[in-house]
Amino acid sequence: MDTVIGIDLGTSTTEAAVLRDGKPVMVINFDGKVTTPSVVGMDDTGNMVVGEKAEGQLLLAPDRTVKEAKRLMGTDRKLPMGTRQYSPVEISSMILTYVRNYAGKFLGEDVDRAVISVPAYFDEIQRQATVEAGKKAGFTVERILNEPTAAALSYGISHMEEESNILVYDLGGGTFDVTLLEMFGGVLEVRASSGDNRLGGKDFDEKLTEYLAGRFKEKHGISLEGDIYAMARLHQAAVECKKMLSTQEEYRVLLPVIAEKEGVPVELDETVTRECFEGLIEELIERTHEPIDVVLEDSNMAAEELDMVLLVGGSTRIPFVQRDIADYLGKEPSFAVDPDYAVAQGAAIQAGIINGMIDSEEGIMMTDVNPYTLGIRTLNGYTADYMSVIIPRNVTIPVTKKQTYYTSWDGQTAADIEVYQGESRSVENNHRIGMFNISGIPSGPAGKEQLEVAFSYNQNGMLNVTATILSTKEEASIAIDMMQTGMEERVDVSGWKEAGLAEDYRTVIRRAEKWLKKHEGEEEAEEDYRELEELVYQLKRAIIDGDDLEAEELEEDIRSMI
Ligand SMILES: Nc1ncnc2c1ncn2[C@@H]1O[C@H](COP(=O)(O)OP(=O)(O)OP(=O)(O)O)[C@@H](O)[C@H]1O
Ligand SMILES: [Mg+2]
Repeated sequence: MDTVIGIDLGTSTTEAAVLRDGKPVMVINFDGKVTTPSVVGMDDTGNMVVGEKAEGQLLLAPDRTVKEAKRLMGTDRKLPMGTRQYSPVEISSMILTYVRNYAGKFLGEDVDRAVISVPAYFDEIQRQATVEAGKKAGFTVERILNEPTAAALSYGISHMEEESNILVYDLGGGTFDVTLLEMFGGVLEVRASSGDNRLGGKDFDEKLTEYLAGRFKEKHGISLEGDIYAMARLHQAAVECKKMLSTQEEYRVLLPVIAEKEGVPVELDETVTRECFEGLIEELIERTHEPIDVVLEDSNMAAEELDMVLLVGGSTRIPFVQRDIADYLGKEPSFAVDPDYAVAQGAAIQAGIINGMIDSEEGIMMTDVNPYTLGIRTLNGYTADYMSVIIPRNVTIPVTKKQTYYTSWDGQTAADIEVYQGESRSVENNHRIGMFNISGIPSGPAGKEQLEVAFSYNQNGMLNVTATILSTKEEASIAIDMMQTGMEERVDVSGWKEAGLAEDYRTVIRRAEKWLKKHEGEEEAEEDYRELEELVYQLKRAIIDGDDLEAEELEEDIRSMI
């Protein structure tokens, strides 16, 4: 049976697990550890390093080291590393490549299928970016699984006979996720998910770093802010301090020679109490309450009906966090799963369901919800940007829902169906995830003809949208496959001339670019123009990647086009 690996690609750490004899087993990396820091760096010889090695050079070479790329997934922000800029997808794919390599060694076989977990509150764009990173690392991404669902799965697999309402509280390095699940007779049903993509241990680190820098400035009148090396040291000390305060009441941060004053070295010496730290993060912890309210409300449940509160994520080790949950929900949280491994274990269980190692007839079954609202753009009399909701958030998937719309003006014979995801009433603030056109509407007065738009969303991340003209039964549709359509990333190819293969393809590129220049803006040539432009881009990319076979094929295509 083909192994499918489960991967928890975290903001600060990454773990992987596989199923062996029906049980998840954690995969050990090249450093002999289960946990790999989600850090990528370029060492001083120009080689890429991942994990502990990369983390180890954070202090010495912060400009050549990247961490917490997950927070930028789905954005077009670039991360500088050495002389080049990298996208969050590229950084994540390096981490995943590392996982693929160590898993291959650990398991003694190549692993090229994966289930990767993401925060439940990741939107479609962030999910697609994750799929893209997996593909770049050479994985077939079988499923994107919500992290809290994975955690619940790792609990559920050994408690299948229980009936209970479980709230999973996952506070990790970069994201906060909360999910309410109902378990009965081996079925694990997600009732609702919510969270905050920008809340986690990283924010606590920042608060504490700021505090320490502030204290230092008060005492010595020196600002450390502009000194990236000093800040990197301070940041590392703050993380250590934060962790120590989870088990002790106070911690002394001591950093000799952090700065200089009139040629004399100055040290930072500051004792932080747990109480002081709690004061710093209080506001952030309070922000976890709203998503908790949302999941309770969306699943029609009162806090008293919860049977268990499962804690997941490294930041739940903070005593203040545990106390806050107990106070807010009136229920002591449970430590029934390993907060560091549960997500990867759950992903491995999901992987086992996919490759048939776990029998879905007898074993655990799972349903999930879509965490974001899905709909289309419509006119509502006031604005042309109105988000008409078709599938509300937190509906159990698979699901199919329909809405009927009327023609908006006299003689309307066609309509653009633009599919959006997001919570705003105005599509402007939401994400457009697809679009198609339906024509052939019989001409008539506004409001006479009806269009039915149906959305079907399944667990494989496939959204089918169909529009039907009710009077003629004519249809048009689009399948938005979140697992396949992954947005092709545009990389910077301007440096292609420096690549080794450049010499062989210089002529064809010059000819193609000449053609493009000549036909720029010509209406009749528009389609050819776009196609050729794309081919040239692909060719430059292949040249940079050193992919001779691909480049040769593209060259042929370009020649035949010109
Ligand atoms: N003993 C501790 N006390 C406080 N915080 C801790 C402790 N141990 C780890 N952490 C913090 O937990 C966070 C990492 O948790 P975890 O590995 O669960 O996150 P992640 O999975 O990488 O991130 P995410 O799930 O948000 O993408 C870091 O911010 C780390 O500093
Ligand atoms: Mg996590």
